[in-house]
Amino acid sequence: MAQGDWWRHGVVYHIYPRSFADSNGDGVGDLAGITSRLDYLNDGTPASLGVDAIWLSPFYPSPMADFGYDVTDYTGVDPSFGTLADFDRLLAEAHARGMRVIVDLVPNHTSDRHPWFIEARASRASPKRDWYVWADPRPDGRPPNNWKSTFPRAGPAWTFDGRTGQWYLHSFLPEQPDLNWWNPEVRLAMDEVMRFWLDRGVDGFRVDVAHRMARDPELRDNPLVLVGDRDDPTGQVRAMRLAEMGATLFDEDWPEVHEILRRFRRTLDAYDDRMAVGEVYLLDLRRLARYYGGGRDELHLAHNFVFLHQPWKPEAFRSVVNEYAELLPTGAWPAHFLGNHDHARVASRYDEGGNGLARARVGAMMLLSLRGTPFVYYGEELGMRDAQVAPDRVVDVDGRDPVRTPMPWDGSPGAGFSSGEPWLPVAADAGRTNVATERDDPTSMLSLYRRLIWYRKGSAALRRGSYRSLPDAPASLFAFVREAPEERLLVALNFSGEPVSWALDPGLADTGRLEVSTYAARQPGPVQLSELVVGPDEGVVLRLG
Ligand code: GLC
Repeated sequence: MAQGDWWRHGVVYHIYPRSFADSNGDGVGDLAGITSRLDYLNDGTPASLGVDAIWLSPFYPSPMADFGYDVTDYTGVDPSFGTLADFDRLLAEAHARGMRVIVDLVPNHTSDRHPWFIEARASRASPKRDWYVWADPRPDGRPPNNWKSTFPRAGPAWTFDGRTGQWYLHSFLPEQPDLNWWNPEVRLAMDEVMRFWLDRGVDGFRVDVAHRMARDPELRDNPLVLVGDRDDPTGQVRAMRLAEMGATLFDEDWPEVHEILRRFRRTLDAYDDRMAVGEVYLLDLRRLARYYGGGRDELHLAHNFVFLHQPWKPEAFRSVVNEYAELLPTGAWPAHFLGNHDHARVASRYDEGGNGLARARVGAMMLLSLRGTPFVYYGEELGMRDAQVAPDRVVDVDGRDPVRTPMPWDGSPGAGFSSGEPWLPVAADAGRTNVATERDDPTSMLSLYRRLIWYRKGSAALRRGSYRSLPDAPASLFAFVREAPEERLLVALNFSGEPVSWALDPGLADTGRLEVSTYAARQPGPVQLSELVVGPDEGVVLRLG
Protein backbone atom coordinates (compact mmCIF):
# COMPACT_ATOMS: atom_id res chain seq x y z
CA MET A 1 0.00 0.00 0.00
CA ALA A 2 1.14 3.53 -0.69
CA GLN A 3 2.75 5.06 2.37
CA GLY A 4 2.62 8.60 3.61
CA ASP A 5 -0.31 10.89 4.06
CA TRP A 6 -2.90 8.49 2.63
CA TRP A 7 -5.57 10.22 4.69
CA ARG A 8 -4.99 13.46 2.78
CA HIS A 9 -5.31 12.00 -0.67
CA GLY A 10 -7.83 9.24 -0.38
CA VAL A 11 -11.62 9.04 -0.30
CA VAL A 12 -13.07 7.63 2.92
CA TYR A 13 -16.29 5.62 2.83
CA HIS A 14 -18.34 5.58 6.03
CA ILE A 15 -20.06 2.31 6.87
CA TYR A 16 -22.77 1.98 9.49
CA PRO A 17 -22.20 -1.74 10.18
CA ARG A 18 -25.78 -2.54 11.25
CA SER A 19 -27.05 -1.41 7.88
CA PHE A 20 -24.51 -2.44 5.27
CA ALA A 21 -24.67 -6.20 4.71
CA ASP A 22 -26.06 -9.01 6.84
CA SER A 23 -24.25 -12.33 6.35
CA ASN A 24 -26.26 -14.52 8.72
CA GLY A 25 -29.86 -13.51 8.09
CA ASP A 26 -30.59 -12.06 11.54
CA GLY A 27 -31.57 -8.72 10.01
CA VAL A 28 -28.56 -6.87 11.42
CA GLY A 29 -25.55 -6.09 9.26
CA ASP A 30 -22.25 -7.57 10.41
CA LEU A 31 -18.49 -7.60 9.81
CA ALA A 32 -18.54 -10.70 7.60
CA GLY A 33 -21.19 -8.95 5.51
CA ILE A 34 -18.89 -5.97 5.02
CA THR A 35 -16.02 -8.26 4.04
CA SER A 36 -18.22 -9.91 1.42
CA ARG A 37 -18.87 -6.52 -0.17
CA LEU A 38 -15.34 -5.14 -0.24
CA ASP A 39 -14.97 -5.68 -3.97
CA TYR A 40 -17.85 -3.30 -4.51
CA LEU A 41 -15.87 -0.66 -2.64
CA ASN A 42 -12.58 -1.26 -4.39
CA ASP A 43 -11.47 -4.19 -6.53
CA GLY A 44 -8.71 -2.15 -8.11
CA THR A 45 -10.72 -1.39 -11.26
CA PRO A 46 -13.06 1.46 -12.23
CA ALA A 47 -15.92 -1.05 -12.17
CA SER A 48 -15.78 -0.60 -8.39
CA LEU A 49 -16.34 2.58 -6.40
CA GLY A 50 -12.62 3.02 -5.83
CA VAL A 51 -12.59 4.34 -2.27
CA ASP A 52 -9.27 4.32 -0.41
CA ALA A 53 -10.43 3.78 3.16
CA ILE A 54 -13.44 2.73 5.17
CA TRP A 55 -14.58 4.12 8.50
CA LEU A 56 -16.65 1.72 10.56
CA SER A 57 -19.14 3.06 13.09
CA PRO A 58 -18.88 1.10 16.39
CA PHE A 59 -19.12 -2.68 16.35
CA TYR A 60 -18.06 -3.20 19.99
CA PRO A 61 -20.12 -5.07 22.61
CA SER A 62 -23.05 -2.82 23.46
CA PRO A 63 -26.58 -2.95 24.84
CA MET A 64 -27.40 -0.76 21.79
CA ALA A 65 -29.21 2.02 23.65
CA ASP A 66 -27.45 4.26 21.09
CA PHE A 67 -26.73 1.47 18.60
CA GLY A 68 -23.13 0.90 19.53
CA TYR A 69 -22.16 4.37 20.74
CA ASP A 70 -22.71 2.92 24.23
CA VAL A 71 -19.78 0.57 24.64
CA THR A 72 -19.40 -2.14 27.31
CA ASP A 73 -16.05 -3.45 26.05
CA TYR A 74 -13.72 -1.31 23.97
CA THR A 75 -11.65 -4.24 22.78
CA GLY A 76 -14.28 -6.72 21.68
CA VAL A 77 -16.86 -7.28 18.98
CA ASP A 78 -20.57 -7.43 19.71
CA PRO A 79 -21.91 -10.91 18.84
CA SER A 80 -24.48 -9.33 16.53
CA PHE A 81 -21.56 -8.06 14.41
CA GLY A 82 -19.40 -11.20 14.66
CA THR A 83 -16.10 -11.92 16.38
CA LEU A 84 -12.62 -10.48 16.63
CA ALA A 85 -11.57 -13.09 14.07
CA ASP A 86 -14.18 -11.61 11.71
CA PHE A 87 -12.68 -8.20 12.33
CA ASP A 88 -9.16 -9.44 11.60
CA ARG A 89 -10.38 -10.97 8.39
CA LEU A 90 -12.13 -7.77 7.35
CA LEU A 91 -8.98 -5.80 8.08
CA ALA A 92 -6.76 -8.21 6.12
CA GLU A 93 -9.15 -8.31 3.16
CA ALA A 94 -9.46 -4.52 3.10
CA HIS A 95 -5.68 -4.15 3.23
CA ALA A 96 -5.31 -6.73 0.47
CA ARG A 97 -7.41 -4.41 -1.71
CA GLY A 98 -5.35 -1.37 -0.78
CA MET A 99 -8.03 0.06 1.51
CA ARG A 100 -7.31 1.48 4.95
CA VAL A 101 -9.60 0.86 7.90
CA ILE A 102 -10.63 3.52 10.42
CA VAL A 103 -12.55 2.43 13.51
CA ASP A 104 -14.72 4.54 15.77
CA LEU A 105 -13.26 5.45 19.15
CA VAL A 106 -15.86 6.52 21.71
CA PRO A 107 -13.78 8.05 24.50
CA ASN A 108 -16.28 10.52 25.93
CA HIS A 109 -18.60 7.98 27.50
CA THR A 110 -19.17 4.27 28.06
CA SER A 111 -22.34 2.27 28.43
CA ASP A 112 -23.90 2.31 31.89
CA ARG A 113 -23.31 -1.43 31.77
CA HIS A 114 -19.58 -1.15 31.22
CA PRO A 115 -17.78 -2.88 34.12
CA TRP A 116 -16.06 0.43 34.92
CA PHE A 117 -19.37 2.17 35.49
CA ILE A 118 -20.91 -0.75 37.34
CA GLU A 119 -17.96 -0.56 39.71
CA ALA A 120 -18.08 3.24 39.88
CA ARG A 121 -21.72 3.38 40.87
CA ALA A 122 -21.41 0.62 43.46
CA SER A 123 -20.24 3.03 46.16
CA ARG A 124 -18.78 6.48 46.67
CA ALA A 125 -15.61 4.78 47.87
CA SER A 126 -15.19 2.68 44.72
CA PRO A 127 -11.74 2.99 43.14
CA LYS A 128 -13.49 3.60 39.82
CA ARG A 129 -15.85 6.25 41.25
CA ASP A 130 -13.79 9.13 39.91
CA TRP A 131 -13.58 7.61 36.43
CA TYR A 132 -16.99 9.21 35.86
CA VAL A 133 -18.40 12.64 36.67
CA TRP A 134 -20.37 12.62 39.91
CA ALA A 135 -21.80 15.58 41.76
CA ASP A 136 -24.06 16.27 44.72
CA PRO A 137 -27.55 17.64 44.18
CA ARG A 138 -28.08 21.36 44.59
CA PRO A 139 -29.50 22.27 48.02
CA ASP A 140 -33.05 22.07 46.68
CA GLY A 141 -32.39 18.61 45.26
CA ARG A 142 -32.09 19.66 41.62
CA PRO A 143 -29.29 18.40 39.30
CA PRO A 144 -25.85 19.93 39.96
CA ASN A 145 -26.13 22.42 37.09
CA ASN A 146 -28.17 23.34 34.02
CA TRP A 147 -26.35 21.23 31.43
CA LYS A 148 -28.56 19.45 28.92
CA SER A 149 -28.18 16.18 27.07
CA THR A 150 -27.41 16.54 23.37
CA PHE A 151 -30.53 14.48 22.75
CA PRO A 152 -33.46 16.81 23.49
CA ARG A 153 -35.60 13.88 24.51
CA ALA A 154 -33.16 12.90 27.26
CA GLY A 155 -33.60 16.28 29.01
CA PRO A 156 -30.97 17.15 31.61
CA ALA A 157 -27.42 15.83 31.25
CA TRP A 158 -27.65 14.38 34.76
CA THR A 159 -29.22 11.26 36.25
CA PHE A 160 -29.64 10.69 39.95
CA ASP A 161 -28.19 7.52 41.40
CA GLY A 162 -30.42 6.72 44.37
CA ARG A 163 -28.07 4.26 45.98
CA THR A 164 -25.14 6.63 46.35
CA GLY A 165 -27.13 9.87 46.48
CA GLN A 166 -25.28 11.67 43.68
CA TRP A 167 -25.95 12.64 40.07
CA TYR A 168 -23.81 11.39 37.19
CA LEU A 169 -23.17 13.28 33.97
CA HIS A 170 -24.17 12.04 30.51
CA SER A 171 -23.81 14.24 27.46
CA PHE A 172 -26.15 11.85 25.66
CA LEU A 173 -28.48 9.17 27.10
CA PRO A 174 -28.55 8.20 30.79
CA GLU A 175 -27.25 4.85 29.47
CA GLN A 176 -24.08 6.69 28.32
CA PRO A 177 -22.29 8.05 31.41
CA ASP A 178 -19.46 10.48 30.61
CA LEU A 179 -15.95 9.48 31.56
CA ASN A 180 -13.96 11.89 33.70
CA TRP A 181 -10.96 12.82 31.59
CA TRP A 182 -9.39 14.78 34.43
CA ASN A 183 -8.59 11.39 35.96
CA PRO A 184 -5.17 10.15 34.76
CA GLU A 185 -6.27 6.51 35.00
CA VAL A 186 -8.94 7.15 32.37
CA ARG A 187 -6.27 8.52 30.07
CA LEU A 188 -4.10 5.48 30.60
CA ALA A 189 -7.01 3.13 30.01
CA MET A 190 -7.85 4.79 26.68
CA ASP A 191 -4.18 4.66 25.61
CA GLU A 192 -4.46 0.91 26.01
CA VAL A 193 -7.65 0.78 23.96
CA MET A 194 -5.99 2.69 21.15
CA ARG A 195 -2.91 0.46 21.22
CA PHE A 196 -5.07 -2.64 21.15
CA TRP A 197 -6.52 -1.64 17.78
CA LEU A 198 -3.33 -0.11 16.41
CA ASP A 199 -1.44 -3.31 17.23
CA ARG A 200 -4.14 -5.23 15.37
CA GLY A 201 -3.40 -3.10 12.35
CA VAL A 202 -6.14 -0.50 12.13
CA ASP A 203 -5.09 2.61 10.24
CA GLY A 204 -6.86 5.18 12.32
CA PHE A 205 -9.69 6.33 14.51
CA ARG A 206 -12.73 8.47 14.09
CA VAL A 207 -12.96 10.11 17.51
CA ASP A 208 -16.56 10.41 18.65
CA VAL A 209 -17.53 13.83 20.09
CA ALA A 210 -13.89 14.82 20.32
CA HIS A 211 -14.82 18.32 21.56
CA ARG A 212 -16.66 17.03 24.62
CA MET A 213 -14.06 15.04 26.50
CA ALA A 214 -12.92 17.90 28.69
CA ARG A 215 -15.30 20.19 30.50
CA ASP A 216 -15.26 22.71 33.30
CA PRO A 217 -13.92 20.94 36.40
CA GLU A 218 -16.04 23.31 38.49
CA LEU A 219 -19.17 22.24 36.60
CA ARG A 220 -20.45 25.81 36.22
CA ASP A 221 -23.83 26.53 34.64
CA ASN A 222 -23.91 27.29 30.94
CA PRO A 223 -24.92 30.89 30.29
CA LEU A 224 -28.61 31.01 29.49
CA VAL A 225 -29.07 34.19 27.54
CA LEU A 226 -32.09 34.12 25.29
CA VAL A 227 -31.14 34.67 21.69
CA GLY A 228 -34.37 34.15 19.77
CA ASP A 229 -35.97 30.74 19.85
CA ARG A 230 -37.61 31.64 23.11
CA ASP A 231 -39.99 28.75 22.59
CA ASP A 232 -37.35 26.13 22.07
CA PRO A 233 -38.06 23.77 24.96
CA THR A 234 -34.62 22.19 25.00
CA GLY A 235 -32.37 25.19 25.27
CA GLN A 236 -30.05 23.50 22.76
CA VAL A 237 -30.59 26.00 19.99
CA ARG A 238 -29.89 28.83 22.35
CA ALA A 239 -26.70 27.24 23.55
CA MET A 240 -25.56 26.71 19.99
CA ARG A 241 -26.20 30.33 19.10
CA LEU A 242 -24.25 31.42 22.12
CA ALA A 243 -21.31 29.29 21.10
CA GLU A 244 -21.44 30.77 17.61
CA MET A 245 -21.31 34.20 19.20
CA GLY A 246 -18.14 33.21 20.95
CA ALA A 247 -19.56 32.67 24.45
CA THR A 248 -17.92 30.07 26.64
CA LEU A 249 -19.86 26.92 27.21
CA PHE A 250 -18.79 24.96 30.23
CA ASP A 251 -19.71 21.49 29.02
CA GLU A 252 -17.67 21.32 25.79
CA ASP A 253 -14.61 22.63 23.98
CA TRP A 254 -12.75 23.08 27.26
CA PRO A 255 -9.05 23.93 26.73
CA GLU A 256 -7.85 20.71 28.34
CA VAL A 257 -9.34 18.78 25.41
CA HIS A 258 -6.32 19.83 23.38
CA GLU A 259 -3.97 18.18 25.86
CA ILE A 260 -5.99 14.97 25.53
CA LEU A 261 -5.79 15.14 21.74
CA ARG A 262 -2.04 15.73 21.87
CA ARG A 263 -1.83 12.59 23.94
CA PHE A 264 -3.84 10.67 21.32
CA ARG A 265 -1.49 12.01 18.68
CA ARG A 266 1.59 10.84 20.55
CA THR A 267 0.08 7.36 20.78
CA LEU A 268 -0.65 7.37 17.03
CA ASP A 269 2.75 8.75 16.11
CA ALA A 270 4.44 5.78 17.74
CA TYR A 271 3.07 3.76 14.81
CA ASP A 272 3.61 4.21 11.07
CA ASP A 273 1.10 6.02 8.98
CA ARG A 274 -1.89 6.12 11.35
CA MET A 275 -4.39 8.94 11.77
CA ALA A 276 -7.31 10.35 13.73
CA VAL A 277 -10.30 12.24 12.39
CA GLY A 278 -12.43 13.96 14.98
CA GLU A 279 -16.13 14.49 15.19
CA VAL A 280 -15.81 18.08 16.34
CA TYR A 281 -19.34 19.35 16.42
CA LEU A 282 -18.60 23.02 16.87
CA LEU A 283 -20.36 25.41 14.55
CA ASP A 284 -17.57 27.92 14.80
CA LEU A 285 -14.69 27.56 12.35
CA ARG A 286 -12.17 29.28 14.61
CA ARG A 287 -12.75 26.80 17.40
CA LEU A 288 -12.79 23.92 14.96
CA ALA A 289 -9.44 24.89 13.46
CA ARG A 290 -7.83 24.65 16.90
CA TYR A 291 -8.40 20.89 16.91
CA TYR A 292 -5.53 20.54 14.49
CA GLY A 293 -3.28 22.00 17.19
CA GLY A 294 -0.18 23.46 15.59
CA GLY A 295 -0.97 21.53 12.42
CA ARG A 296 0.84 18.34 13.33
CA ASP A 297 0.23 17.64 16.99
CA GLU A 298 -3.51 17.07 17.49
CA LEU A 299 -6.10 15.65 15.08
CA HIS A 300 -5.02 14.84 11.53
CA LEU A 301 -8.50 15.80 10.33
CA ALA A 302 -11.60 17.33 11.87
CA HIS A 303 -15.03 16.92 10.36
CA ASN A 304 -16.38 20.32 9.41
CA PHE A 305 -20.02 20.49 10.51
CA VAL A 306 -20.32 24.11 9.44
CA PHE A 307 -19.88 22.92 5.86
CA LEU A 308 -22.54 20.23 6.36
CA HIS A 309 -25.05 22.76 7.64
CA GLN A 310 -24.92 25.22 4.74
CA PRO A 311 -28.04 26.08 2.77
CA TRP A 312 -27.94 25.25 -0.95
CA LYS A 313 -26.27 28.52 -1.94
CA PRO A 314 -22.94 28.86 -3.74
CA GLU A 315 -21.80 31.80 -1.62
CA ALA A 316 -22.56 29.83 1.56
CA PHE A 317 -20.24 26.94 0.66
CA ARG A 318 -17.67 29.29 -0.84
CA SER A 319 -17.38 31.39 2.27
CA VAL A 320 -17.07 28.38 4.60
CA VAL A 321 -14.38 26.81 2.44
CA ASN A 322 -12.44 30.05 2.04
CA GLU A 323 -12.68 31.11 5.65
CA TYR A 324 -11.64 27.69 6.86
CA ALA A 325 -8.66 27.62 4.51
CA GLU A 326 -7.47 30.87 6.07
CA LEU A 327 -7.99 29.69 9.62
CA LEU A 328 -6.24 26.32 9.39
CA PRO A 329 -2.68 26.21 10.68
CA THR A 330 0.12 25.41 8.25
CA GLY A 331 0.21 21.73 7.48
CA ALA A 332 -3.44 21.15 8.40
CA TRP A 333 -5.77 19.61 5.86
CA PRO A 334 -9.58 20.00 5.63
CA ALA A 335 -12.08 17.14 5.70
CA HIS A 336 -15.41 17.50 3.92
CA PHE A 337 -18.58 15.51 4.21
CA LEU A 338 -22.22 16.10 3.37
CA GLY A 339 -23.82 13.35 5.40
CA ASN A 340 -23.36 10.78 8.11
CA HIS A 341 -25.43 8.50 10.34
CA ASP A 342 -26.75 11.51 12.31
CA HIS A 343 -27.83 13.84 9.49
CA ALA A 344 -30.33 13.99 6.65
CA ARG A 345 -29.24 12.50 3.36
CA VAL A 346 -28.20 14.99 0.70
CA ALA A 347 -30.88 14.11 -1.88
CA SER A 348 -33.53 14.81 0.78
CA ARG A 349 -31.94 17.72 2.59
CA TYR A 350 -31.52 19.88 -0.47
CA ASP A 351 -34.62 18.81 -2.35
CA GLU A 352 -36.84 21.64 -3.54
CA GLY A 353 -39.66 20.42 -5.73
CA GLY A 354 -37.95 17.28 -6.99
CA ASN A 355 -34.43 18.50 -7.78
CA GLY A 356 -32.81 16.69 -4.81
CA LEU A 357 -31.05 14.12 -6.94
CA ALA A 358 -29.69 16.68 -9.42
CA ARG A 359 -28.39 18.76 -6.51
CA ALA A 360 -26.91 15.67 -4.88
CA ARG A 361 -24.92 15.11 -8.09
CA VAL A 362 -23.55 18.65 -7.87
CA GLY A 363 -22.86 18.04 -4.17
CA ALA A 364 -20.92 14.89 -5.03
CA MET A 365 -18.76 16.81 -7.47
CA MET A 366 -18.14 19.53 -4.89
CA LEU A 367 -17.21 16.99 -2.21
CA LEU A 368 -14.84 15.11 -4.48
CA SER A 369 -13.15 18.10 -6.06
CA LEU A 370 -12.55 20.46 -3.13
CA ARG A 371 -9.19 20.58 -1.42
CA GLY A 372 -9.51 18.20 1.51
CA THR A 373 -10.34 14.62 2.34
CA PRO A 374 -13.84 13.60 1.25
CA PHE A 375 -15.96 11.33 3.44
CA VAL A 376 -18.85 9.55 1.71
CA TYR A 377 -21.64 8.05 3.82
CA TYR A 378 -22.83 4.66 2.59
CA GLY A 379 -25.72 4.91 0.14
CA GLU A 380 -24.97 8.51 -0.84
CA GLU A 381 -23.30 7.05 -3.92
CA LEU A 382 -26.68 5.60 -4.88
CA GLY A 383 -28.61 8.80 -4.21
CA MET A 384 -30.43 7.28 -1.24
CA ARG A 385 -33.00 9.53 0.37
CA ASP A 386 -34.23 9.71 3.93
CA ALA A 387 -36.56 6.74 4.22
CA GLN A 388 -40.05 6.81 5.71
CA VAL A 389 -39.96 4.82 8.93
CA ALA A 390 -43.42 4.00 10.28
CA PRO A 391 -43.95 4.94 13.94
CA ASP A 392 -44.02 1.30 15.02
CA ARG A 393 -40.59 0.72 13.45
CA VAL A 394 -38.87 3.70 15.08
CA VAL A 395 -35.90 2.58 17.19
CA ASP A 396 -33.63 5.62 17.58
CA VAL A 397 -34.13 8.15 20.38
CA ASP A 398 -33.11 11.04 18.20
CA GLY A 399 -35.03 10.58 14.94
CA ARG A 400 -32.10 9.24 12.93
CA ASP A 401 -33.64 6.00 11.62
CA PRO A 402 -34.46 7.46 8.17
CA VAL A 403 -30.76 7.88 7.38
CA ARG A 404 -29.75 4.44 8.62
CA THR A 405 -31.92 2.11 6.53
CA PRO A 406 -30.35 -0.94 4.86
CA MET A 407 -27.95 -0.53 1.97
CA PRO A 408 -29.97 -1.53 -1.11
CA TRP A 409 -27.87 -4.00 -3.09
CA ASP A 410 -30.67 -5.13 -5.40
CA GLY A 411 -34.42 -4.87 -5.90
CA SER A 412 -35.38 -7.97 -3.93
CA PRO A 413 -37.58 -7.68 -0.80
CA GLY A 414 -34.60 -7.72 1.58
CA ALA A 415 -32.72 -5.48 -0.90
CA GLY A 416 -29.88 -8.02 -0.96
CA PHE A 417 -29.03 -6.68 2.49
CA SER A 418 -30.50 -9.56 4.48
CA SER A 419 -32.37 -12.80 3.94
CA GLY A 420 -34.21 -12.06 7.20
CA GLU A 421 -36.31 -9.16 8.45
CA PRO A 422 -34.06 -6.06 8.39
CA TRP A 423 -33.72 -4.19 11.69
CA LEU A 424 -34.92 -1.04 9.93
CA PRO A 425 -37.25 -1.13 6.94
CA VAL A 426 -35.80 -1.12 3.45
CA ALA A 427 -36.44 2.28 1.83
CA ALA A 428 -39.52 2.45 -0.38
CA ASP A 429 -37.50 3.44 -3.46
CA ALA A 430 -34.98 0.58 -3.08
CA GLY A 431 -36.56 -1.07 -6.15
CA ARG A 432 -34.81 1.49 -8.36
CA THR A 433 -32.22 3.04 -6.05
CA ASN A 434 -29.93 0.04 -5.63
CA VAL A 435 -26.49 -1.17 -6.64
CA ALA A 436 -27.63 -3.79 -9.18
CA THR A 437 -29.78 -1.33 -11.10
CA GLU A 438 -27.32 1.54 -10.98
CA ARG A 439 -24.17 -0.40 -11.67
CA ASP A 440 -24.69 -0.71 -15.41
CA ASP A 441 -26.61 2.50 -15.92
CA PRO A 442 -24.24 5.24 -17.12
CA THR A 443 -26.72 7.91 -16.02
CA SER A 444 -26.95 6.67 -12.41
CA MET A 445 -25.61 8.35 -9.30
CA LEU A 446 -23.36 5.33 -8.76
CA SER A 447 -21.79 5.80 -12.19
CA LEU A 448 -21.20 9.48 -11.43
CA TYR A 449 -19.55 8.69 -8.07
CA ARG A 450 -17.35 6.06 -9.71
CA ARG A 451 -16.35 8.47 -12.45
CA LEU A 452 -15.56 11.26 -9.98
CA ILE A 453 -13.61 9.05 -7.59
CA TRP A 454 -11.52 7.45 -10.30
CA TYR A 455 -10.97 10.78 -12.00
CA ARG A 456 -9.78 12.20 -8.69
CA LYS A 457 -7.42 9.29 -8.25
CA GLY A 458 -5.70 10.18 -11.52
CA SER A 459 -5.63 13.90 -10.85
CA ALA A 460 -2.75 15.47 -8.94
CA ALA A 461 -4.63 18.79 -8.84
CA LEU A 462 -7.69 17.30 -7.14
CA ARG A 463 -5.78 15.08 -4.77
CA ARG A 464 -3.24 17.50 -3.52
CA GLY A 465 -3.33 20.73 -5.53
CA SER A 466 -3.91 24.25 -4.34
CA TYR A 467 -7.38 25.81 -4.20
CA ARG A 468 -8.46 29.26 -5.29
CA SER A 469 -12.06 30.34 -5.60
CA LEU A 470 -13.12 32.64 -8.44
CA PRO A 471 -15.22 35.35 -6.82
CA ASP A 472 -16.00 36.97 -10.18
CA ALA A 473 -17.92 33.96 -11.45
CA PRO A 474 -21.67 34.47 -12.06
CA ALA A 475 -23.61 34.58 -8.80
CA SER A 476 -25.21 31.16 -9.10
CA LEU A 477 -21.87 29.40 -9.51
CA PHE A 478 -19.38 28.17 -6.95
CA ALA A 479 -16.27 28.13 -9.11
CA PHE A 480 -12.70 27.35 -8.15
CA VAL A 481 -9.36 26.38 -9.61
CA ARG A 482 -7.34 23.43 -8.38
CA GLU A 483 -3.75 23.47 -9.43
CA ALA A 484 -0.73 21.19 -9.17
CA PRO A 485 2.53 21.48 -11.11
CA GLU A 486 1.17 18.84 -13.52
CA GLU A 487 -2.25 20.31 -14.26
CA ARG A 488 -4.83 23.01 -13.69
CA LEU A 489 -8.54 22.31 -13.33
CA LEU A 490 -11.55 24.57 -13.11
CA VAL A 491 -14.58 23.34 -11.21
CA ALA A 492 -17.86 25.20 -11.79
CA LEU A 493 -20.94 24.20 -9.84
CA ASN A 494 -24.31 25.67 -10.72
CA PHE A 495 -26.47 25.93 -7.62
CA SER A 496 -29.47 27.26 -9.55
CA GLY A 497 -32.12 25.72 -11.76
CA GLU A 498 -31.25 28.12 -14.60
CA PRO A 499 -28.47 27.75 -17.15
CA VAL A 500 -25.53 30.09 -16.68
CA SER A 501 -23.35 31.45 -19.40
CA TRP A 502 -19.94 32.68 -18.34
CA ALA A 503 -17.24 34.48 -20.30
CA LEU A 504 -14.11 33.48 -18.46
CA ASP A 505 -11.33 35.98 -17.94
CA PRO A 506 -9.06 35.38 -20.98
CA GLY A 507 -6.07 35.69 -18.65
CA LEU A 508 -7.11 32.47 -16.91
CA ALA A 509 -6.48 30.05 -19.76
CA ASP A 510 -6.30 29.71 -23.53
CA THR A 511 -8.14 26.46 -23.90
CA GLY A 512 -10.54 24.39 -21.91
CA ARG A 513 -11.56 20.77 -22.05
CA LEU A 514 -14.60 19.32 -20.32
CA GLU A 515 -13.44 16.37 -18.22
CA VAL A 516 -16.52 15.45 -16.19
CA SER A 517 -20.06 16.79 -16.03
CA THR A 518 -22.76 15.82 -13.58
CA TYR A 519 -24.93 15.49 -16.69
CA ALA A 520 -24.39 11.93 -17.82
CA ALA A 521 -25.09 12.82 -21.46
CA ARG A 522 -22.58 15.65 -21.72
CA GLN A 523 -19.47 14.19 -23.28
CA PRO A 524 -15.90 15.21 -22.52
CA GLY A 525 -14.28 17.42 -25.12
CA PRO A 526 -13.14 20.97 -25.91
CA VAL A 527 -15.22 23.88 -24.62
CA GLN A 528 -15.29 27.59 -25.42
CA LEU A 529 -13.96 29.50 -22.43
CA SER A 530 -15.27 32.77 -23.85
CA GLU A 531 -18.77 31.38 -23.49
CA LEU A 532 -18.89 28.57 -21.01
CA VAL A 533 -22.41 27.27 -20.45
CA VAL A 534 -23.21 25.43 -17.24
CA GLY A 535 -26.68 23.90 -17.28
CA PRO A 536 -29.34 24.01 -14.55
CA ASP A 537 -28.14 22.06 -11.50
CA GLU A 538 -25.00 21.06 -13.38
CA GLY A 539 -21.42 20.80 -12.20
CA VAL A 540 -18.42 20.58 -14.51
CA VAL A 541 -14.71 19.91 -14.19
CA LEU A 542 -12.65 21.51 -16.95
CA ARG A 543 -9.00 21.11 -17.76
CA LEU A 544 -7.36 24.46 -18.42
CA GLY A 545 -4.60 24.77 -20.98
C1 GLC B 1 -21.81 11.08 18.02
C2 GLC B 1 -22.31 10.00 17.10
C3 GLC B 1 -23.75 9.76 17.39
C4 GLC B 1 -23.88 9.32 18.81
C5 GLC B 1 -23.23 10.31 19.76
C6 GLC B 1 -23.05 9.73 21.11
O1 GLC B 1 -22.45 12.29 17.81
O2 GLC B 1 -22.07 10.36 15.77
O3 GLC B 1 -24.30 8.81 16.53
O4 GLC B 1 -25.24 9.19 19.14
O5 GLC B 1 -21.96 10.67 19.34
O6 GLC B 1 -22.02 8.78 21.10
